[in-house]
Amino acid sequence: MRTGPVREWQARGKVYGMSEASNAVPAGGGATGRADRAAQRRALASKYALLPLRLFLGVTFVYAALDKLSDAHFLAGAGDPASFVSQTQAAKSGGSPISFLLGPALDHPTLFALAIAFGELAVGLGTLLGLWGRVAALGGALLNLSLWLTVSWSVSPYYLGNDLGYLMAWTPLLLAGTPYLSVDGYLARRADRDRARGLGEDHVKRRALVDGGIAAVAIGGAGLLSGSLTRTFGRDRSAVPRQSAAPVSNPPVANAQAPAPTVAAASVPVGGSAQVKDPATGDAVYIVQPKAGQYCGLSSVCTHSGCAVDAPKNGQLYCPCHGSRFDAATGAVVNGPAVKPLPKYAVTKDGDKLTLGPQQG
Ligand code: FES
Repeated sequence: MRTGPVREWQARGKVYGMSEASNAVPAGGGATGRADRAAQRRALASKYALLPLRLFLGVTFVYAALDKLSDAHFLAGAGDPASFVSQTQAAKSGGSPISFLLGPALDHPTLFALAIAFGELAVGLGTLLGLWGRVAALGGALLNLSLWLTVSWSVSPYYLGNDLGYLMAWTPLLLAGTPYLSVDGYLARRADRDRARGLGEDHVKRRALVDGGIAAVAIGGAGLLSGSLTRTFGRDRSAVPRQSAAPVSNPPVANAQAPAPTVAAASVPVGGSAQVKDPATGDAVYIVQPKAGQYCGLSSVCTHSGCAVDAPKNGQLYCPCHGSRFDAATGAVVNGPAVKPLPKYAVTKDGDKLTLGPQQG
């Protein structure tokens, strides 16, 4: 008897809100039954196709918000190169197409920095729980659009700017909303039941709006509390080196005995650089000559999250991942989010050759 499984499919189809076509039940055994079941599985997979993306974006935005709120540098003043105000100033002077909109953010940097962090938290929680999913997706898309047009604007080529990728990732959720495994889905199903009970459309809509609002206030309150606690107990990143999310450095290898790398002095003009490898770590190092006759080496590994910084240009080394800039003479941070300088190396000149020395400090 197939009555049990058939009823189960029908029940699941109703719960998941499947269309009638996809709700067709396996009619029996044999090839037709297998084809029906395969069609059911495909329909189910299509239906939940956006769940991994939703999970990723929700978790990432909650993480990013708490990361900002726990970072003492983010809300520091203009003297801190990793602060919101310094990064906004850099975006304004770096040719952002919306630089004319950045004035108010620079006038009230703490307010805007907190608004961004708590906005990310609201977007992340709304996305994870599927509460007003389209509104949350719109908020996420606007945040990433503004970050792309500011912080990531000078990243070249454009596809390395991660904010553009996030902006595109929000569009499916913006179009589809969060109807499954979500508060939105629950409210929609309850509205259907209310209609079936004969309640008027105005009443149904008002009830869904009020209940959605109550859920938003509850979740927003929880977000505010967790964000405030994170802010209160945040740590000073200058004392805690950030772990690399995408490290380009190799683990230390036992080849410190390898001969020190050398380059022709003529290959390092004033303001230019030549690239060698640190024999102890395998990391790329730029040998630079910031002033005539002054040579040093600077690690190419960004101290923010381990991306490779570009070769020196106009007196600075630029990191394409999140826009940190380092002084090409000293390795000091010019603009964050990095807070630690690039590791420096001694370089000695012997005749027409430059030799990389050990890392300093
Ligand atoms: S890795 Fe983030 S700025 Fe370099």
